[in-house]
Amino acid sequence: MKVFVTGGAGFIGSHLCENLLNRGDEVTAYDNLSLGRKEFLKPLLSRPSFSFVENDLLKDVDLAQRLKGYDLVFHLAANSDISLGSSRTDLDLKQSVMATYNLLEAMRGAGVGRLIFSSTSAIYGEAELKPTPETYGPLVPISFYGAGKLSAESLICAYAHHYGIRSWIYRFANVVGAHLTHGAIHDFLQRLKADPSVLKVLGDGRQRKSYLHVTDCIEGMLFGFHTAKDEVNLFNLASRGVTEVRWIAEQVVAQVNASARIEYGSEDRGWSGDVPYSWLDSGKLANLGWKAKVESSVAVEMSVREALQWQNRS
Ligand SMILES: NC(=O)c1ccc[n+]([C@@H]2O[C@H](COP(=O)([O-])OP(=O)(O)OC[C@H]3O[C@@H](n4cnc5c(N)ncnc54)[C@H](O)[C@@H]3O)[C@@H](O)[C@H]2O)c1
Repeated sequence: MKVFVTGGAGFIGSHLCENLLNRGDEVTAYDNLSLGRKEFLKPLLSRPSFSFVENDLLKDVDLAQRLKGYDLVFHLAANSDISLGSSRTDLDLKQSVMATYNLLEAMRGAGVGRLIFSSTSAIYGEAELKPTPETYGPLVPISFYGAGKLSAESLICAYAHHYGIRSWIYRFANVVGAHLTHGAIHDFLQRLKADPSVLKVLGDGRQRKSYLHVTDCIEGMLFGFHTAKDEVNLFNLASRGVTEVRWIAEQVVAQVNASARIEYGSEDRGWSGDVPYSWLDSGKLANLGWKAKVESSVAVEMSVREALQWQNRS
């Protein structure tokens, strides 16, 4: 297959490109490098079936032309820093909604008929039902990021209906592994790098979330793609269990500098728009035959090691 990956130089995108190449696909990574790093793609650049395009979904007038002949688009490009939304209220509107609209229009123009989209647990807001299934509603996101992703999901559904762009929408839990560009593990490692004596945690550390290893994230997306054949296929994508932020802080400190002091804030969340407790029900994918191999806390443990290895190598 010829596959186009927006956000291909980002955390998940760079792993996805490698996985697809190893499966024998021809892959183009497309990224404006605002958050991603070309360095993540370095081992792939010399492979004949791989190409990299540096461009921006908000500015690229040649996108439809560029997409001609592709069989499938993975759309991962977005702002991935949830906390930024409250100070830059048009960020997710542009990077999630407008960027997705531009991509869908270009796919329509180019006749590309299949799309895989990276949505998020944030679209559920502070859901009362946990674990939260795909059928939960009403959907009341509390962040601009969640609002942007939910709007992008809606646009994708309308394009699927009107123009036959078959879609697979995945609402991810927190994804972790090497090449992190954001999130608790990345943030803790950066803070300890700046000051190895103390780790300041945003919020009281009692936030609980489900963490999904990036390998499982990619396998889950591909499983759903090959198995579910509706016009719009919508899935939660998560592992088993939830992990407390305090435990993550302790894991990172133990690996980096066991004598560092951990300081917690007093709020129940890290920032305005943060959902302190999220737990996705991934029973829909499980009923089709797929489960994450690695449970939440093991994914965190593995990722702290992988992120450190990456940090020390570069
Ligand atoms: N990592 C997670 O925990 C998680 C959870 C839920 C959903 N997601 C979603 O999965 C996707 C990938 O996440 P990630 O963790 O790899 O984040 P990331 O920030 O590492 O990757 C996003 C990539 O998109 C690129 N990008 C942003 N705006 C662009 C634009 N206008 N044009 C071209 N490229 C652009 C960035 O440079 C970056 O490389 C994102 O859409 C994110 O919202 C991630």
